[in-house]
Amino acid sequence: MGRPGRDALEDRLAGLREELEVDVCVVNGENVADGVGITPKLAERLLAAGADAITLGNHTWRRQEIRPYLESSDRIVRPANFAATTPGKGLTVVPAADGTPVAVVNVMGSLSLQPATSMWELVDDLVDEARAATPVVVVDVHAEATSEKVALARWLDGRVTAVIGTHTHVQTSDARVQPGGTAAITDAGMTGPHDSVIGVEAELAIRRMRTGMPVRFRPAEGGVRLEGVVVDCDADGRATAIEPLRIDAS
Ligand SMILES: [Fe+2]
Repeated sequence: MGRPGRDALEDRLAGLREELEVDVCVVNGENVADGVGITPKLAERLLAAGADAITLGNHTWRRQEIRPYLESSDRIVRPANFAATTPGKGLTVVPAADGTPVAVVNVMGSLSLQPATSMWELVDDLVDEARAATPVVVVDVHAEATSEKVALARWLDGRVTAVIGTHTHVQTSDARVQPGGTAAITDAGMTGPHDSVIGVEAELAIRRMRTGMPVRFRPAEGGVRLEGVVVDCDADGRATAIEPLRIDAS
């Protein structure tokens, strides 16, 4: 989230990867450009900081310049259930540190968001396509509603390695490995300023809500934390553990 989140990532991610023996790292980057959207330059910085793949969400199109990058890079995905005519794709495959291919899928929920089609219409085909490439499949479900994210995790249990929720910026306390071997959490949390309203300067967010008037948002600065999850899996792509990360980085 904004510069504070990016700075925390650039300071800490490489060290954390080493310390936690992380083989592959997926970062949701839709709020990296001043709080909304992403640019090619910032995407490259996330990758240089230690991300192997970047997922996005409802703010994908905020920065026009990302469009050609979505077409040309194999390291970035946007929700697969955007209109088929829009640039980019919702599935990519990246190599882990030991060369194991890892499929990264991005879909978006419908409640209070506006995907072109329901994620339920295409997620099975997408997962089949991912599994044809590799047994290790990570799904970022970008959604407002906990119900949609929990339901998708259940639906995909046993077919993917992990279903990780994003978008609400507040880490949930439900990290678990489901009976079929799919790890899940409803929201991985936010790498960014937590002394805020989900990353935005509190006073600005509250003013917009109280008055209903347009207010230009700015990312906040205080209480920076690096949040996410670490998932362990076996060679068949079955998750064996999921551990939430919540690291003070201010
Ligand atoms: Fe979002």
